[in-house]
Amino acid sequence: MRILVTAGPTREAIDAVRYISNRSSGKMGYAVAAAALERGHEVVLVTGPVALARPRGARTVAVTTADEMLKAVRTHVAWCDVLVMAAAVADFKPMKAHPGKLKKDRMPQSLRLKPTVDILRAIKAAKGKRCFVGFAAETERLVPEARRKLKVKGLDLIVANDVRRPDSGFDVDTNRVTVLAADGRLEPWPLMTKKAVAGKLLDWIEAHR
Ligand code: PMT
Repeated sequence: MRILVTAGPTREAIDAVRYISNRSSGKMGYAVAAAALERGHEVVLVTGPVALARPRGARTVAVTTADEMLKAVRTHVAWCDVLVMAAAVADFKPMKAHPGKLKKDRMPQSLRLKPTVDILRAIKAAKGKRCFVGFAAETERLVPEARRKLKVKGLDLIVANDVRRPDSGFDVDTNRVTVLAADGRLEPWPLMTKKAVAGKLLDWIEAHR
């Protein structure tokens, strides 16, 4: 299969040196890309800024902002059979990014923010028969929130990610997830390595296809 994977955070500039982002390390998305390559699938990896070695054999597209990630996903979505959105896209960005470095004494007391583009919603129309997989990073109401996102984002599968615990979610090597499918199937998986999560997720995707 041709698998398009997104990984890592996006960064939204406040000024020339500061930004809004999150703690995503890219480990989950890179594990999906590596597992897919191991199984002989073709992979395009759209990656936010992370400190990981690029998986050998994947075409990698490096992006910084949510807008850039959308552009890269739009470019490759027609090519893919499967999209796995493991990236933690920043949800907000400053109304205006200052072109230089803001001086401390001129720093505004508060930042005016606006939502970034929702990539999955923006490309919904391109889905067709493709399999779209999302992740949902939650600290409460894990399953109801993931189910809501599965629906509004028009996904086939969502990986609900419990990010409250220190051994699960952002910037660790293990993960604790519950997988929900559009046909109603739901399966909580025990704590396992992100590599193992990626392998099991590919089993589901291959079965779905
Ligand atoms: O990178 P790691 O350190 O390994 O951490 C892994 C992870 C916690 C980042 C990953 O497992 C994960 O949960 N990724 C999704 C994080 C997230 O942004 O969740 P969300 O509930 O805000 O978004 C739901 C889905 O919509 C996601 O597939 C996301 O990629 C997508 N999205 C979100 C915001 C946005 N503007 N556009 C989107 O398409």
